[in-house]
Amino acid sequence: MATSFPPVVPGRFQMLHGGDYNPEQWRHRPELLDEDALLMRQAGMTAASVGIFSWAALQPGPDSWDFTWLDAVFARLQAQGVGILLATPSAARPLWLAEDAEVRRMRSDGTREDPGGRHSFCATSPRWRAAVAEIDRRLAERYAGHPALLGWHISNEFGGAAENGRCHCPRCIAGFQGWLRRRFGDDLDALNRAWNSAFWSHSYQDWAQIRPCDRSNDGLMLAWHRWCSDLVLDVVRLEKAAIRSASAAPITTNMHGPMDFYDHGAVARELDFVSYDCYPDIDGSLRDAEAVAAASFYDGCMRGLAGGRPWLLMESCPSQPQYKPRMRLKRPGMHRTLSLAHVAGGSDGVCYFQWRAGSNGHEKHHGAVLMQDAPTDTRVFREVAELGADLARLGGVVGAACPAPVGIVCDVHSTWARRVSGGFQGEPAPAELAMTHHRCFHECGIHADLVDADSDLTRFSLVVVPGVALLRPGFAKRVEAALAAGAQVLIDALSGWYDDEAAMVAGGRPGPLAGLLGLGASEEMDVLRTDERVALTVTGGWLPAGTHAIGHCDLVRLAGAEALATYAGEFYAGRPALTRHRHGAGTAWYLGCRLERPALAHLLARLANAAGIRPPLPAIPAGVVVRERIQPGRRYLFVLNPQPQAVQVAVGPGWSDALGEATMPATLDLAGHQARVLTRPA
Ligand code: GAL
Repeated sequence: MATSFPPVVPGRFQMLHGGDYNPEQWRHRPELLDEDALLMRQAGMTAASVGIFSWAALQPGPDSWDFTWLDAVFARLQAQGVGILLATPSAARPLWLAEDAEVRRMRSDGTREDPGGRHSFCATSPRWRAAVAEIDRRLAERYAGHPALLGWHISNEFGGAAENGRCHCPRCIAGFQGWLRRRFGDDLDALNRAWNSAFWSHSYQDWAQIRPCDRSNDGLMLAWHRWCSDLVLDVVRLEKAAIRSASAAPITTNMHGPMDFYDHGAVARELDFVSYDCYPDIDGSLRDAEAVAAASFYDGCMRGLAGGRPWLLMESCPSQPQYKPRMRLKRPGMHRTLSLAHVAGGSDGVCYFQWRAGSNGHEKHHGAVLMQDAPTDTRVFREVAELGADLARLGGVVGAACPAPVGIVCDVHSTWARRVSGGFQGEPAPAELAMTHHRCFHECGIHADLVDADSDLTRFSLVVVPGVALLRPGFAKRVEAALAAGAQVLIDALSGWYDDEAAMVAGGRPGPLAGLLGLGASEEMDVLRTDERVALTVTGGWLPAGTHAIGHCDLVRLAGAEALATYAGEFYAGRPALTRHRHGAGTAWYLGCRLERPALAHLLARLANAAGIRPPLPAIPAGVVVRERIQPGRRYLFVLNPQPQAVQVAVGPGWSDALGEATMPATLDLAGHQARVLTRPA
């Protein structure tokens, strides 16, 4: 039964089309500000993200405030029917505040960051926290009732400074020690045991000895990642509370990048909707297929964070992103195709960085909808306006589900645990493994949601557990629940290594997953050279004939499971490489090695079939993206060609054009960089 979700902005059954808008950078050119509002309307913009880096303009000094310019922005945009996602300005603080050293992050060598830049705050600084809470509260009080307010955009890309974003000031270190005391119930012996800190004689006699500078202590370094992540969560809560003191409008924060700086699942649980900034590496080469697949992977991450609900593409580049190695222009049609790919992946809108490029400053070359005060009748503007018109016609898609029968577990605690633990360096990191698995579903047009290890897995009929090295408390139970509900569950050999403190799992790996898989504890794992592979003997057609193991070969013993592939070479010839075990109403599969992508795609397609999952089209030409979104009573099929060459796609009869009037042929001719959206009753 298809479900429909509420729109990300309550009551707005309209695709959002918007972007970062920084009018404070153009206050000396009022004629351009007037032009902005008119052109936004022409471009079909319905939302502007305002105020992201405006703190100095809003609060020029500790006791001076100026909201008049922002009042005028609200009025101008409202007059043109453009709503506002109002940002809290905490990502970049004014110099008068930054001059106070306490608000600036301390590096691990004890030196402070210079004033300037952005994202360089110390999140425990009382002065910074009070200043953030005050400006957020004032914004909320002033604009809560404004009819143009759509919602709140907290800060900007937490973790934007990545590893450098971690503050080592005495207050943060003391906070970390206090956090550990709470985690270990004030029991230092328990911490010493959990971390095996007798290793290299690092046993702690006092909480004050614990500093995040000992990279030989895996438990310590994992805890440091977690504490820094909790600080992000804490700031989100601080800002949320300040907003909620006056406004009930929906709250989000724009996530971005590889999503491993903080625990995005924990932050997402604080938000009313999730949003993401996506800048794929499109350069017109064959690598574009990777970039499109990667963007689709992050769409799946957003759906996972949103529990399957729609989300919002908060930033994307309508033209040439300045941070790429080559600032290649997107070919005509490519912006529309990439944007609709995100809508196909569950975004209920398309927003940009940014509306008008700044005249100077570090991002002046970043392709915006409008470039400085240059002429506005440009190809980019026209393409943005055309997309705006398309999005206006896609109102029926708002709230539509992306039916995702596949859940891939991708958990940041495993990413951190692998990062801090030595060993197995050549093998892919958890997120890379998740992306490889996701790619196989992407190419078949099947939505796969990326979910963290704390998520309920029972909504999926196929669950993939790749590289989930760290077993979060209760994870094995959640896998068991999915099996009990009848799912096919595939677990790989890089999963089930560590307990929640990054210690080797008790009783041998994969710990409590072994019983579900019908296996005994694994004996040892061979890691192959990159020029080696080991042939497999396969039965039952679950893998293609001629399949080889690459990367690693795990050596397990059967304890109830049956082997469907065995190693055909090496001293471990005959040992199982792929096993199957019925458990509850479901089936648990173990893959002891890595596979080349065609063999992995074959296995996942077979498992999907066993789980009753049918791709939206029987055959999809290479490089073409096909996705479905479903409303009760209506289906939408996105067919997108992000490559330069034309393709034909057999979609079958009965579709009409969701963006026009025409009935569609059963076989679509798609030009290079062309996108179509089809619809029919469900
Ligand atoms: C984003 C960021 C924006 C802008 C943009 C440029 O990651 O949120 O503020 O810097 O990148 O690509």
